[in-house]
Amino acid sequence: MKIALVLGTRPEIIKMSPIIRFLEKNKNEYFIIHTNQHYSKNLDEVFFKELELPKVKYNLNVGSGLHGEQTARMMVRIEEIFLKEKPNKILVQGDTNTVLSASIVASKLKIDLGHIEAGLRSGDKNMPEEINRIVADHCSTYLFTPTENSSKNLLNENIKQKNIYMVGNTIVDAIQQNLKIAQKKSDIIKKLNLQEKNYILVTTHRAENVDNKNRLKRIFKGLGMLQKKFSIPVIIPLHPRTLSRIKEFKISIPKTLKIIEPLGYMDFLVLESKTRLIATDSGGIQEEACILHVPCITMRDTTERPETIAVGGNVLVGWDEDKILKYGIKMSKIDKVWPNPFGNGNSSELIIENLSK
Ligand code: UD1
Ligand code: UDP
Repeated sequence: MKIALVLGTRPEIIKMSPIIRFLEKNKNEYFIIHTNQHYSKNLDEVFFKELELPKVKYNLNVGSGLHGEQTARMMVRIEEIFLKEKPNKILVQGDTNTVLSASIVASKLKIDLGHIEAGLRSGDKNMPEEINRIVADHCSTYLFTPTENSSKNLLNENIKQKNIYMVGNTIVDAIQQNLKIAQKKSDIIKKLNLQEKNYILVTTHRAENVDNKNRLKRIFKGLGMLQKKFSIPVIIPLHPRTLSRIKEFKISIPKTLKIIEPLGYMDFLVLESKTRLIATDSGGIQEEACILHVPCITMRDTTERPETIAVGGNVLVGWDEDKILKYGIKMSKIDKVWPNPFGNGNSSELIIENLSK
C-alpha cells in the first residue's frame, strides 16, 4: 500500500497530524502533498514545527485565488504527481478546496480515495465547504465518518454501508496527543495577562460572515456588547481573511476587544481549555470546545456538527448582536459536563487499519 496524503490548510495540518504520526510509527509507505492553500507562517509552518511533522515531499505553492483558479491549479499539479508516484490510496481530510481538487483527480484516475470527516452536512449549499464535502464523499471509496449522524447522512445520499467506516474524529487524537504538552510549554495565559475562566475566546473567518459587511459589523458589535456585560478580556486571534475584510469595509472594532495574530496550536489549545466561553464560526473549534467541555456559541445559522448542540455544549446564534449577547450570557453560566461525541482518540489507527484491508 502506497498512500498519498493531501493537505493544504491549518485545520487539515492539525487533524492529519495524528495520521502522519501513526504512519511514521508503523513505517507505512506514504508521502505528503501540501497545496499551500495556507502559506502564511502562522497558518502553516508553525504547525509543522510544533507538531514535529516530517517535511512534505511536494509543496505546490498554490496560495490564494478565486475558487475556480485555485482549485484548478491544485488539480493540474496533483494529477501530475499521482501519475508519477502511482499511489494506490489517497487520503484527504475535511472540506476545503484542497480536498475538492484531490478528490476529483483521484476519482478520474480511479485511485481509491479515503475521506476523513466524511458525511458532515450543514444543509446549506451556499457554503463552499458544503459543496466540497458532498463532492469528496461521492468520489470516495472509504468514507471515514466521525459519528453515527454523519454515517446516516451518507446512507441518505445512497452511499453504500460497506464503504462507510465510523471511526470518530482525529481531532480527539490531536487533543489527547497535544494538550498536556501544550499546558507545559505554553505561557500564553501569562503573556496575555489572563486569568482562568475569566476571558472569552473568539474566532471568525467563515466566508459568509466576513465577506458580508453587515454581518461582520454586527458580529463585532455583539462581541463588544458581550465584553461590556462581562467586563472581562475578549481575545480574538484574527484570521488574515477577516483582517483584510475589516480593512476593506472600514469597520471600526470596539477598542475593548483584544485583536491578536493567529496563534500556534499549543497556545490556542491552552486558551481554549481555560476560557469561560468560546464564540466562533469555525468548524474545528466547535468540536474542540465540545471535547474540552467549554461552552460555545456558534455565530452561524447552521452547523455540520449538530452533535455539539445535541449534547448541550453549543448553540447557534447567527450574526445578530442581541443573540450573541443573550446566548453568550446563557452559555457562560452552564455548569455541566457532557459526553464527547467524537470518539475516544484512536481514529487515526482505525483509519489506517481499514485502509489497509
Ligand atoms: C479556508 C477554507 C475553509 C477553512 C479555512 C481554515 C475553502 C473554500 N475554505 O478558508 O473551509 O475553514 O481555510 O482556516 O477551502 N490568507 C492569508 N494567508 C494564508 C491563507 C489565506 O493571508 O496563508 C488570506 C488571503 O487574503 C486569502 C484569504 O485569506 O485570499 C482566504 O484564504 P482561502 O484559503 O481562500 O480561504 P480561507 O478563508 O482561509
Ligand atoms: N487554531 C489555531 N490557532 C488559532 C486559531 C485556530 O491553532 O489562532 C486551530 C484550532 O485549534 C483548530 C483549527 O485551528 O484545531 C481550526 O481551524 P479553522 O478555524 O481555521 O478552520 P475550520 O475548522 O473552520 O475549517
